[in-house]
Amino acid sequence: MSASGGPWIYALGTLAPRVDGSAYIAPTATLIGDVVVGPGASIWFGAVLRGDSGSITVGAGTNIQDLCILHEETTIGRDCVLGHGVLAHGIHAEDGVVIGNGALVHEGTRIGAGAVVAAGSLVPANSVIPAGTLWMGVPARQRSASVPERIRQRFQETREFYADAARRYPRELHPPGPDSA
Ligand SMILES: CC(C)(COP(=O)(O)OP(=O)(O)OC[C@H]1O[C@@H](n2cnc3c(N)ncnc32)[C@H](O)[C@@H]1OP(=O)(O)O)[C@@H](O)C(=O)NCCC(=O)NCCS
Repeated sequence: MSASGGPWIYALGTLAPRVDGSAYIAPTATLIGDVVVGPGASIWFGAVLRGDSGSITVGAGTNIQDLCILHEETTIGRDCVLGHGVLAHGIHAEDGVVIGNGALVHEGTRIGAGAVVAAGSLVPANSVIPAGTLWMGVPARQRSASVPERIRQRFQETREFYADAARRYPRELHPPGPDSA
């Protein structure tokens, strides 16, 4: 369902996005070319996934929040969280990774399963972030060898919120009317 004509999903030549039927793509999100979105994933308002120079894959259950930019060959695993305004430019993130709001992650970077990159971090090209670790800062450095349980729990709640929103928005999003005041 589309509230206002979007989302904007375009083929580029022979490259066409492939979106699982159970994924949610918000109106105003843009998917171009070689983009694959897995089951139950969600792509939120204003996000741009431009698959014109390498494929972009978003795994099952992952949420790509508003205004994210994904470009170049990029793989995001299952059950990942990309916060608002994340730049993922030519990266590989394994399952369960969290990249906080506004973080910039540059080409060739590999992020191991369950690792967390804090909000606002800058991850330089070709960084290697081991599984389960917590990184932060500009440039990002390892802050902890393991993500504390309370932080892990917080992000689990985020996953659940987005999984629920991805089911709710297709039903409930509509232009405002007399019944929505
Ligand atoms: C990484 C994060 C989980 C840390 O949470 P936290 O442990 O509760 O953070 P605290 O406020 O207790 O700070 C702990 C330390 O980390 C530092 N810190 C916290 N967040 C930081 C960040 N984003 N960048 C750099 N340093 C940070 C604090 O300054 C503090 O340093 P100190 O011990 O030297 O004083 C949190 O800051 C974060 O980035 N969350 C992501 C939020 C987000 O993007 N949500 C949307 C997607 S789910």
